[in-house]
Amino acid sequence: MSTLGFEIIGTGHYVPGNPVTNDDLAKVMDTSDEWIARRSGIRQRHYAPEGQGASDLALVAAQRAIEAAELTPKDIDYIIFATMTPDYVFPGSGALLGAKLGIEGVPCLDIRQQCAAMLFGLQLIDGLVKSGHAKTILFVGAEAHAGFMPWEDWDILEGKREGEVTPEARERANKHRALAVLFGDGAGALVFRATERDAGLRGLTLQTDGRHAKTLYVPGGGFRTRPYWKEDAFREQAFVPHMEGRELFKFAVTKLPQAARALCEKTNTKIADIDWFLAHQANTRINEYVRDALGVPVAKMPMNIDRFGNTSAGTLPILIDELTKASQLKRGELTMMLALGAGIHWGCALVRW
Ligand code: ACO
Repeated sequence: MSTLGFEIIGTGHYVPGNPVTNDDLAKVMDTSDEWIARRSGIRQRHYAPEGQGASDLALVAAQRAIEAAELTPKDIDYIIFATMTPDYVFPGSGALLGAKLGIEGVPCLDIRQQCAAMLFGLQLIDGLVKSGHAKTILFVGAEAHAGFMPWEDWDILEGKREGEVTPEARERANKHRALAVLFGDGAGALVFRATERDAGLRGLTLQTDGRHAKTLYVPGGGFRTRPYWKEDAFREQAFVPHMEGRELFKFAVTKLPQAARALCEKTNTKIADIDWFLAHQANTRINEYVRDALGVPVAKMPMNIDRFGNTSAGTLPILIDELTKASQLKRGELTMMLALGAGIHWGCALVRW
């Protein structure tokens, strides 16, 4: 094992189409800008259009990141693709992305740790670099959640057609409104490179507790039934994830501060030594709780949930891209990333930039 670390040498993101505001959502279900903004901090989100999958969104983000790194796709020797909304049940979207980038032959690893994917990705990247298996790694988180949204009237939602949705359609959407308002589509991409500089992973804590898997999961489909997709599942809207929002909220505000404190203790780091807290964006209130519990100044925990909603695996790479472009993550700075995702998977990482 070498002592090589990693550095991020290029970042990019892509969100499809025009933003869909909270008022737009009120055209297809009973909700309001006031409710959504107060409970979650979200003001708008983007949705992947029909026919565009996670690999399509990922392609644009990846091209932007590779260009920012002043490389070409041929320089990438490993791809890690994180999504919970893949183009197909199988194969994973990583292989599709590799082909779209024109670098067939380069290994692509698909991971599915949902909103916690970036943290698991960092562990893999650290291992790949230290073992010498890869030097220039493309990490992409991309989501096309539009496919599980509980309405059919996209034209009315997007203002392409005047008119009202039927009371039945509104009722179907209302059943899932707490979930539907949270998620948005997009992709973030980061190019990692092995370095001898004093940079990379300084500590990591990862945990998974599958006893809580059903606090956020898709009840329909899956290979425990024959066939794995049934007509009733569609009629019963079992393609829409089931979410126990309050349970997840409580889990996040308890476990994330615990994980952060444990990591600080393990690595002999003080909260005040950390320059940035890059938290997954599931709900502004979750991040405010975590921030207050750890005594983190507001300015050290940037948020962009108001513009994108929860983009699951896309979130942390998108945030990192925005901060990089705003020259806010500088060489030598110490960051803590925190995230929790369906599984439940959670943890935090200390990364020296
Ligand atoms: N618009 C208007 N009213 C609504 C909406 C909506 N979109 N959604 C729910 N309501 C109503 C409910 O019907 C309920 O009404 P009632 O009191 O008359 O019954 C009321 O608002 C409260 O509903 P709750 O679901 O209890 O609201 P809560 O305060 O828990 O907020 C929320 C819901 C925002 C989902 C919150 O629980 C949350 O953010 N949880 C965390 C979710 C999360 O982090 N998910 C992602 C995990 S990460 C991953 O891996 C993808």
